[in-house]
Amino acid sequence: MSDKKNSNLWGGRFKEPASIEMANLSRSVHFDWRLAPYDLRQSAAHARVLHAANLLTDVELESMLDGTSQLSDQVLSGVFSPIDTDEDVHSSLERGLIELLGADLGGKLRAGRSRNDQVATDFRMYIREQSFAIEELVTELAIAFLEQAESHVDTPAPGFTHLQHAQPVSFGHELAKHCHALLRDVERLKDWRDRHNYSPMGAGALAGSSLPLDPQGVARELEFIAALANSIDAVSARDFVSEFLFVTAQIGINLSRIGEEVVLWNSREFGWVNLHDSYSTGSSIMPQKKNPDIAELARGKAGRLIGDLTGFLATAKSLPFGYNRDLQEDKEPVFDSVDTLLVLIPAVIGMIKTMTFNTEVMAASAPTGFALATDIAEWLVRAGTPFRKAHEIAGECVAFCESKNIELWDMTDADFAAISPDLTSDVREVLTTEGSMNARDAFGGTAPVRVREQLQNLRGRLGIA
Ligand code: ARG
Repeated sequence: MSDKKNSNLWGGRFKEPASIEMANLSRSVHFDWRLAPYDLRQSAAHARVLHAANLLTDVELESMLDGTSQLSDQVLSGVFSPIDTDEDVHSSLERGLIELLGADLGGKLRAGRSRNDQVATDFRMYIREQSFAIEELVTELAIAFLEQAESHVDTPAPGFTHLQHAQPVSFGHELAKHCHALLRDVERLKDWRDRHNYSPMGAGALAGSSLPLDPQGVARELEFIAALANSIDAVSARDFVSEFLFVTAQIGINLSRIGEEVVLWNSREFGWVNLHDSYSTGSSIMPQKKNPDIAELARGKAGRLIGDLTGFLATAKSLPFGYNRDLQEDKEPVFDSVDTLLVLIPAVIGMIKTMTFNTEVMAASAPTGFALATDIAEWLVRAGTPFRKAHEIAGECVAFCESKNIELWDMTDADFAAISPDLTSDVREVLTTEGSMNARDAFGGTAPVRVREQLQNLRGRLGIA
């Protein structure tokens, strides 16, 4: 290691330098550089441990902490950055520390740790921090839906199954469903932290260290719940990566379903929503166009988020335990997923917040398509008819209306009576959208009185009571 700029971490055993091809393939610093702040924080904690173990003197510790903090500033300001010969973030930062402190002191920090526990620790810290940022955005999106829902509790809209008119629903109920899905995503992120916020430090290469280190102390200092209890597991486990990638993919799937809904609602055929100019795009050729690009990108980005997950799962499958270089492939999918969500969610929030609804269109369409047929059946059931028979009678009403090209409420008393003597004129009380919605008043149902309770409860869960 005669070259001062050489950050190669081995050497003793090797007579020849790495080939250029090997170095090119091996290099990860162009993407793992974003772990630098975590690596430096970890280094400071490790220096304190070495000091506590009498492996650094008071003076050396002070210089070491001074060095890591200077290097942090230099990294932040861009004064220090990776060079071509740096393989990864760890070797680059070690080079930086040696440049600041000299090889004797700078070289001491490597005692008792390996890049194997180092990278696993950095990466857990990185994901932990990103989990908070993503959680905040997902919560903000849930709040945007909640606020829209609160304005539309009494707006009827067609509810769908098979994308066909099924039963009228409160549009507030329809919007609020997204809050529940997004809140589960938030819980999944918290759950990730409960399960994976543990420290691999102290595992060394794989077997732990013969130096008197303090893994639990480092874990505490780096805000982990505790140190991992098995050093082989500590350097080998990557379920913390796959689980995080599942959560981000699931968020992507939820966003894609929101996107699909907006695309549909925004179509001329539906005509339910108006997108704000600043959250839609025009066409370069068709002047009349206003396109829901955010919604489409939300739909499309789910593909890459799922790809990040499945790609990494394929990498992890059948890997032997202990560190294997394949594991270096864990970072880019995570970085890509994080970057994707950090630009996607704010755009979706803006789109949802500024969206307005054509409530008359929805309300007019709510009872059409024989969406009240179930109400006839259930009315009959309440009057004592077995459901099987009631279903048939209501079906005959629908067939009759279809043949006459009318809606259920256009049927005369005689029309009803001709189908079944049980169908008295009282059945009309459920043949309105409001009657239908109000009737579904059990817990979780669409009756506005229940939806108001639901939204109140969501306010509490979202911390905006
Ligand atoms: N850059 C490596 C990674 O991301 C760091 C660990 C390298 N360890 C090793 N034994 N070569 O996985």
